[in-house]
Amino acid sequence: MVNLSVKIGKIKMQNPITTGSGCHSLDYESLYSPDILGAFVPKTVRAYSWPGNPPPRITETPSGVLSAVGIPSKGWEMFVSEDVPKLKALKTPVILSVVGRTEEEYAEIVELSDGLGFLAGIELNLSCPNVKAGGLQFGANKDMAYKVVALSRKKTGLTLIPKLPPDQSNIIEVAKAVEAAGADAISMINSPRAMMIDIETRKPFLGNVMGALSGPAIRPIAVALVYQVYQNVKIPIIGMGGIANVRDVIEFLLAGSQAVALGVVNFFDPMAAPKILAGLEQYLEEKGIEDVNSLVGAAHTRN
Ligand SMILES: Cc1cc2nc3c(=O)[nH]c(=O)nc-3n(C[C@H](O)[C@H](O)[C@H](O)COP(=O)(O)O)c2cc1C
Repeated sequence: MVNLSVKIGKIKMQNPITTGSGCHSLDYESLYSPDILGAFVPKTVRAYSWPGNPPPRITETPSGVLSAVGIPSKGWEMFVSEDVPKLKALKTPVILSVVGRTEEEYAEIVELSDGLGFLAGIELNLSCPNVKAGGLQFGANKDMAYKVVALSRKKTGLTLIPKLPPDQSNIIEVAKAVEAAGADAISMINSPRAMMIDIETRKPFLGNVMGALSGPAIRPIAVALVYQVYQNVKIPIIGMGGIANVRDVIEFLLAGSQAVALGVVNFFDPMAAPKILAGLEQYLEEKGIEDVNSLVGAAHTRN
């Protein structure tokens, strides 16, 4: 018997596998129960209704998914009446991903989320543009990221997990800032900015012009960033970006992730989560490793 359980802040996860926000839904219940996961992270929610980006919103590239969905929202009341009962019924911990356009909006939705009474944690999606700062992503600047986390921290005792975007050279500074502001863990990475141009129309393909790239193409970028952030913070990291199979999961653990999230792999391999869980257990048994935690950051040990 091997130990697969890990801890992220106060959250005890039965295994290190979670879902990437926006890339999984409770519709997968027809395939397998989401309760097999270590935690479930639903699509990011806003406190207000929001149309999202104009179409087209998503397309394929040779090794990933290009998207600009824009986090459409039906508003908090609809979320509470339609989605919360289903999320509440899960046995696995639920980490709610939230977003705002200002620091105050983040604090407001964190307070609302805390008030739901059943969540295990709150993920702060810091890839959203700050409307007061000319559209710069909250997570692209250490002072802005610090402020969002510090304000949110005042509103909840739940495990608080800022999710960092990779579109900056200072992700280490941002990671240190959110740790100093009271974050319990860090999720990383959100998808890097990307675009595609239609050569027939000679126009950007996505309705939003700019999108973001997910999938296997970004995995080495994500692994490098996790590796660097692990060396600079003490709080646990939930690593993601291009994970497609159990090998990739192990790579993220070795780089320093305490847990990992499965993103667009759920689109092209809907049974990825149960397959990866079985594969992880098998890997540990074959290698004679008793505890999955002993893999975390092991690539940093130099003898
Ligand atoms: C269609 C789509 C929707 C997404 N929606 C969200 C979202 O609502 N909130 C969020 O934090 N990340 C969102 N993401 C980013 C993923 O959670 C993940 O961070 C990213 O795709 C990298 O992981 P992957 O390569 O394994 O997919 C979305 C990604 C895709 C492709």
